[in-house]
Amino acid sequence: MSPVIPKKLHMITWGCQMNVYDSGRMEDVLAPLGYAPTLAPEGADMVILNTCHIRDKAAEKVFSELGRLRLLKLEREAAGGKMILAVAGCVAQAEGAEILARAPYVDIVLGPQTYHRLPEMVARASRAGGAVIETDFPAEQKFDFLPDAAAPQGVTAFLTIQEGCDKFCSFCVVPYTRGAEASRPAADVIAEARRLVGQAAREITLLGQNVNAWHGAGARGLGELVRRLAEIDGLARIRYTTSHPRDMDDDLIAAHAEVPALMPFLHLPVQSGSDRILAAMNRKHTADDYRALVAKLRAARADLALSSDFIVGHPGETEKDFEATMQLIRDIGFAQAFSFKYSPRPGTPAAGAGQQVPEAEKDQRIYAVQALLREQQTAFNARCLGLTVPVLVTGPGRHDGQIGGRSPWLQPVHTIGPVSLTGSVVPMKITATHPNSLTATLEQERACA
Ligand code: 5AD
Ligand code: SF4
Repeated sequence: MSPVIPKKLHMITWGCQMNVYDSGRMEDVLAPLGYAPTLAPEGADMVILNTCHIRDKAAEKVFSELGRLRLLKLEREAAGGKMILAVAGCVAQAEGAEILARAPYVDIVLGPQTYHRLPEMVARASRAGGAVIETDFPAEQKFDFLPDAAAPQGVTAFLTIQEGCDKFCSFCVVPYTRGAEASRPAADVIAEARRLVGQAAREITLLGQNVNAWHGAGARGLGELVRRLAEIDGLARIRYTTSHPRDMDDDLIAAHAEVPALMPFLHLPVQSGSDRILAAMNRKHTADDYRALVAKLRAARADLALSSDFIVGHPGETEKDFEATMQLIRDIGFAQAFSFKYSPRPGTPAAGAGQQVPEAEKDQRIYAVQALLREQQTAFNARCLGLTVPVLVTGPGRHDGQIGGRSPWLQPVHTIGPVSLTGSVVPMKITATHPNSLTATLEQERACA
């Protein structure tokens, strides 16, 4: 067997946590070929752009980055070297042919379902046989073919348990770029969780585009999977994201009441508060369904805090529809939320719909919705003043002597304390609150969970 020659791999990642996780997995599959991560593209033997297509201008960002990398690639070739340039992720899936037409110096275009085949694609590209493009949805599941995750992620870790979506919301590219829903078997998830805990993880966030639609072999649903994960020694906290209101079943709601390790913070996108727009979005729930669901969740876990995604300016959205969204926000009270101006995604039903909302109206609505959400987030943080809360210490803070961590509700918390507390859950008293974080003092130096 020929020796493996060490090579440098530079990864640029955009978009969601799942892309961050996928970038780690691509590093894992390339490690046996001698590729080790490097922080700069200069001198890299391979550069992978892991892209996101969910909202506006994604493809343009990719093309401008490719333009810069092309110069580095040319420099390296002039010096007798080689740089493999790959575009992965959802822009690759959606616009693979366009990428090769506009940037013919790209060597590999690969969709999110094909990462397990990356070594083969690298070999093909190295043989200089022109560009390699893999954007099919292969019959085999990539989960079954990826090696065990190798790189430790630290105190807070992510674990993909489900991928893809069959919901086809009118505005969304995910069902086209990530494919149909697929779930990893419970045994695989538990084994990976154990490995992560062995590598110092104390909190695991389960990831999936429709994570609560998880239906992997070996457990009835996400509620049961969470209960099984909670049995792992040393795993203090479990979270999951992103959920769809339609898949929030009673067993999962009950898990919020019964499993202390399941954190009282839930990202549950509603997108709009208008039933007319929710129907046009193909969400298959009403605003009152959402209100009722939140009431059920809060009955199960009184301190549950909510986060959501909102889109303003979906085709057909009137002032009255927008006001219904504002009303829903007032009714629920969010601890945090994301809001976006609708941007047409090619190939999605809403992109071709009539009644597109003028940009100026979208601007006014996004301004109003963000002001309200900011007010709610600030008020939520302010309510923590004086409370003693368990904080998972994640490491040193920004300033000397400071350490940072997370509250159960995902708020960043800063305090003065020893870095040796990293990985412990310690009680802290909140002494000041800010729009995006909390300041605290250590209550006592002992772990409370
Ligand atoms: N325009 C604006 N926002 C969008 N999102 C998804 N697609 C679009 C789009 N075309 C938002 C949704 C989703 C979040 C991840 O991104 O709110 O929940
Ligand atoms: Fe996109 Fe989420 Fe709707 Fe699926 S459920 S189509 S991922 S917004």
